Amino acid sequence: MLKAYRGELLHFLSDPAKGCLEESYQHFDDGLLIIKDGLVEQVGDASELLSTLDPSVEITHYESGLIMPGFIDTHVHYPQTEMIASYGEQLLEWLENYTFPFERQFEDFEHGKKVAEFFLTQLLAAGTTTALVFGTVHKESVEAFFTVAQQKKLRMICGKVLMDQNCPDYLSDTAQTGYDDSKALIEKWHDVDRLQYAITPRFAPTCSAEQLQKAGQLLAENPSVYIHTHLSENKDEIAWVKALFPDNDGYLDVYDQHKLLGRRSVFAHGVHLHDCECERLGETGSAIAFCPSSNLFLGSGLFNLKQAQKYNVNVGYGTDIGAGTTFSMLSTLNEGYKTQQLRADKLSPIQSFYLATLGGAVALDLEGTIGNFTKGAEADFIVLDYHATELMSRRMQHCRNLSEKLFILSMLGDERHVKATHIMGERV
Ligand code: GUN
Ligand code: ZN
Repeated sequence: MLKAYRGELLHFLSDPAKGCLEESYQHFDDGLLIIKDGLVEQVGDASELLSTLDPSVEITHYESGLIMPGFIDTHVHYPQTEMIASYGEQLLEWLENYTFPFERQFEDFEHGKKVAEFFLTQLLAAGTTTALVFGTVHKESVEAFFTVAQQKKLRMICGKVLMDQNCPDYLSDTAQTGYDDSKALIEKWHDVDRLQYAITPRFAPTCSAEQLQKAGQLLAENPSVYIHTHLSENKDEIAWVKALFPDNDGYLDVYDQHKLLGRRSVFAHGVHLHDCECERLGETGSAIAFCPSSNLFLGSGLFNLKQAQKYNVNVGYGTDIGAGTTFSMLSTLNEGYKTQQLRADKLSPIQSFYLATLGGAVALDLEGTIGNFTKGAEADFIVLDYHATELMSRRMQHCRNLSEKLFILSMLGDERHVKATHIMGERV
């Protein structure tokens, strides 16, 4: 069945940083998005498309709003929802003092379901329609997450954490149980409806070489699943990896030697990377999740986006809840801009909104499926409201072009400015 949505409309066709800026996106002051059975059928100027559209098709008109693809969060921990804003520590102490004790609760499936329900409601309210999500070490945490995401008909990627050393006993699996549980979850959930599985070694310090080897084996046996882990977030963490894996040539090499790099591998943070590591990420098609809110909160450092772009590394935005302090992708863009300012690098609003939508889809190897309005893409989209707050509304009066509008949305915007979220065409 056909449906149509009318209003100002924006989506990306390619990376503005790579080719011609003007050709990287389509923007219609008065656009029409036509959806057929939950998928994008056509997008264009309302005046042109309306003349050929069957008059019986229902049209929803979003005036004074901006219709765009749903945001994509390429790194987030659903079990850390209720421990957001835990005071005072950098990464390693934060994990030990707050995170590990907290994640213990997710051995309980019912607890996982309750938190997953709340987490996904928050994400949708913030306009995020797809995310790459950490569970905990417990397979029940992933069962709970997928159960709720499936009910909501969402495209979500999740995995059970692998960690068999340098963590509390109550949170530890073994190389073999981690492999067995992940395999069972892949068989049950991967590519069921819109759900996909990510093999999820927490990070090199909490994984033995045997566990990483088994993760590589699992990937070789299931090449369409993801790898999702952390990389070079914090200087003490990097020194620890060096001590734990003295025979490897740096942090990324630990993952590389275990065959964990590739088109569906996503590494969170990558704040302190050497050029040769970026080069390797680029040539393997691996992605980095840029998590500015988390990097500032934990004092981890300032991600070097220019360096990643130089080596053609795919980059998406991540909120990294609960080290990140917001579910809002608009607020995350705000933090991203400011981190680049501190590096004396300019991050343009066009580039920011690309990274939050199509860039995220490319990072997740889901281009053509989500992230823009090409024909056949899943119609997950949002409507941003310029007038949800008095301040933004006033600021918008002095706005001259699309770039300025996007910049103001990203500096002043948050959940309040997400007027509607649609999943497969349906408003939720
Ligand atoms: N590195 C290993 N585990 C974590 C985690 O839970 N959060 C963050 N930000 N970094 C990590
Ligand atoms: Zn994380």
